[in-house]
Amino acid sequence: MYEDIDDNWICGRYGEDEPWMLGAVNPPVFENSLFTFPTMEALSGAIPAEDERYVYSRGTNPTVDLLQRKLAALERAERAKCFGSGMGAISATISSLVSAGDHVIVVGAVYGPTTQFLRYLEKFGVSHTTVHTDNPGVLDSVVKPSTRIVYLESPSYMRCGIIDIRAFAGWARDRGLTTVMDNTWATPIFQKPLTMGVDLVVHSLSKYIGGHSDLVGGVVAGSASLVRPLALTEYQLYGAALSAHEASKAIKGLRTLPVRMRAHQERGLQVAEFLAKHPAVRAVNHPGLPGHPGHELARTQMTGFSSVFSIELDTEDRVEAGRFVDSLRHFRVGVSWGGYESLAIAPALTVEESVRATMEIPVGLVRLSVGLEDAETLIADLASALGTS
Ligand SMILES: Cc1ncc(COP(=O)(O)O)c(C=O)c1O
Repeated sequence: MYEDIDDNWICGRYGEDEPWMLGAVNPPVFENSLFTFPTMEALSGAIPAEDERYVYSRGTNPTVDLLQRKLAALERAERAKCFGSGMGAISATISSLVSAGDHVIVVGAVYGPTTQFLRYLEKFGVSHTTVHTDNPGVLDSVVKPSTRIVYLESPSYMRCGIIDIRAFAGWARDRGLTTVMDNTWATPIFQKPLTMGVDLVVHSLSKYIGGHSDLVGGVVAGSASLVRPLALTEYQLYGAALSAHEASKAIKGLRTLPVRMRAHQERGLQVAEFLAKHPAVRAVNHPGLPGHPGHELARTQMTGFSSVFSIELDTEDRVEAGRFVDSLRHFRVGVSWGGYESLAIAPALTVEESVRATMEIPVGLVRLSVGLEDAETLIADLASALGTS
């Protein structure tokens, strides 16, 4: 479908040669809630296909549509639907696939609020089981006649574990189950799950794709037969629409995504290599390091590595983990990631104890998001905080 187009072109000009764009180097922003029609007949004809016709921007908007076409192409999907946040995309996608009495399998540690949403669904009779394994055969012991979804995230949340995407997607396909995968960490520049058999990919656009910590958005991409129903139902009814203004920022973010990802990768690896040699650091969870247990597998399914990873300090004291983060001068303290600025966070001080245990997050874990500053500056900052400058 997209054989002749490269990612750099998709991130830039792709989809922008419509006559109504008048050759503008930046596409117009359609800040309209409403689109009118010459007659009642024309309006009534547009409503059943509201994912394709512009009627009202809670459904479809030309600027959002352009972003959707680019994101679908990047993920090699037939369709993509953008949402007002990554969680909007995740919750709508899961809801579209389950009914009361159904069951979801979650593989490994996934983004915390995704698990929270699955717990929330329990009140509607939807259950889930989380399995920490890198062997799809283990899922045979938890699958039920009511299982509908296998939910994946690789690299996994916080500890960057790698699972064999082709093997898990194949296991699910053989049993008629739908796979949904959160691909936010790698971005479609470094990993394309749909080409490995996954059915639906979800992203937070608020991270690398936006790239400037100035927007919140999400997307789901996959076949038209899976995306279209949720675009017409959950998207419309939950009302988690992405605004044209936010979409235009994501379109600008996409223009530099391939070059930013290369720069993030380079800096992230330089910082990780420094930390891997430091005696005060027990472990560095970065799948781009040859010593990482998932490194070889990662190289068979990813073309690069982003720059969010975690380190494990030699401590069982959460206050000490917090003190380390506080003593960094260049890394700022904050949630999220994927922008210019480098960030650090100690989850032992923000994630509830029981949740931390299920996600296998040790007390001394610190997550770093390496931004676009010089690696030397960041390394000097870390060396000083670790007490060796
Ligand atoms: C891996 C991952 N998926 C999904 C989300 C949710 O995205 P949003 O914050 O845009 O709702 C996040 C946010 O931190 C995330 O880290």
